[in-house]
Amino acid sequence: MTSNLFQPIKVGKMTLPNRVIMAPMTRGRSGADGVPTATVAEYYGQRASAGLIITEATAINARGDGWPGAPGIYNDKQQAGWSLVADAVHKNNGRIFMQIWHMGRSVLSENIDGMAPLAPSAVAAEGQIPNSQGVPTDFDVPKEMTSEEISQTVSDFVDAAQRAVDAGIDGVEIHAANNFLIDAFLRDGTNKRTDAYGGSIENRTRFLLEVVDAVAEKIGSDRVGVRFSPTNGVFGIADSNPGALFSYAASQLSSRNLAYLHLLEPLGEGEHPMKTDVPSVSHLIREAYKGVLIQNGGQTPESASALIESGQAEAVAFGVPFIANPDLVSRYQSGAELAAPNPDTFYTPGPEGYTDYAPL
Ligand SMILES: Cc1cc2nc3c(=O)[nH]c(=O)nc-3n(C[C@H](O)[C@H](O)[C@H](O)COP(=O)(O)O)c2cc1C
Repeated sequence: MTSNLFQPIKVGKMTLPNRVIMAPMTRGRSGADGVPTATVAEYYGQRASAGLIITEATAINARGDGWPGAPGIYNDKQQAGWSLVADAVHKNNGRIFMQIWHMGRSVLSENIDGMAPLAPSAVAAEGQIPNSQGVPTDFDVPKEMTSEEISQTVSDFVDAAQRAVDAGIDGVEIHAANNFLIDAFLRDGTNKRTDAYGGSIENRTRFLLEVVDAVAEKIGSDRVGVRFSPTNGVFGIADSNPGALFSYAASQLSSRNLAYLHLLEPLGEGEHPMKTDVPSVSHLIREAYKGVLIQNGGQTPESASALIESGQAEAVAFGVPFIANPDLVSRYQSGAELAAPNPDTFYTPGPEGYTDYAPL
C-alpha cells in the first residue's frame, strides 16, 4: 500500500496534492550565462505533477557559481529566465521551490576570474570537478572567509531569494548539503575557524542560521526550506559527530516555522552512490524537528510510504526516477513500469536525455 504518498499535505502556505517531491538535480542546461532557457522551462513544466518541484542548485552570486551550465539567480537576465520556468510549472498546476547555493570551496578558481574559492577554512575539497571545457580538474585550496565576506554572502542569499520570488517561484530551499558553502561551515572536517563561526556546534551552525533568518525575514519563513546531507562524504566532507551537530541544527530550525527540512540520507540496506559507513542520523533529526520533514535517497514508493507511515517523514523526494519519468507520480500511483534514465546525458547540454523522455 502506497496510498499515503498521494494524500495532500500543507507545506508553508501551499497544499501539495501528493507527497512525491522532485529532488534538486543539477542538469547543466543553462549555458555559460546561467540563464534558464525555454528548454529548461519545458523540462520543469513536464514534471509539474510532482507534489513540489525543487529546482537544481542555483547560484546566489558569481563567486559561488562554478558548475558548467548551472543556472544563477543574481542578475536580471537570470531572473527573467526563471520567470519562464515558474510560468511553465504554474500553467500546469504545479508548485516550485528554487534550491539556492554558494559552491564555496567547490568552485574552480579558473571559473571565477582566477580568484580563490571561498570557504570557512583553507581546506581543499577532494576529488575533481569539470572545468568550463568539461575536463575533470582538481580543486584549489580555498580562502578562509573574512567576517565581511560572510556578511556579504548572507546578503547575497537574501537578494537571490527575493529575485526567485520576484520571478514567480514559490519559495527557496537553502542548500546546506553536499559539502557546499553552508555545509562546509557546519561540519568540523572543513570548519577549522577559531572565531564565532567555528569550534562549537553552536558556532558552526551560526552561518546557516544567519542565512535562514535573513532570508525568512525577507520572503517569509513559510517560503523557506533547508537541505542537509548529514552523513554523506561528498568531495571528502566529514564531521566528527553528525548526530549531535545535525540534531542541534534541526532543533534550531524547528522553532522557525519553515516550509520544510529536507534530508538526503539513503536509509535502505541497498547500495547508493551517496551512502557512507557513517550510521544514519535521520531518526535523531526527526526527534528534533517538528515541522514537515522530507526524506530522500534511494527511496521506492513502498519504502517512502513506510517512512510516512512510521512518522519518519511527511513527504519523500525522488531524484533519478524523475529524470526519465516526467509523470512519475501517476506511474507510482498506477504501478506502471518506470523508464530507465541514461546517465551519460545527466549533465550534457541540449534536449537529449532532458526533455525527450515521454510520459506514458
Ligand atoms: C544528476 C544529478 C544532479 C544532482 N544535483 C543536485 C543538486 O543540484 N542539489 C542537490 O542538493 N542534490 C543534487 N543531487 C542529489 C539528488 O537531489 C538526490 O539527493 C540523489 O539523487 C538521491 O536521490 P535518489 O536516490 O532518489 O536519486 C543530484 C543528483 C543527480 C543524480
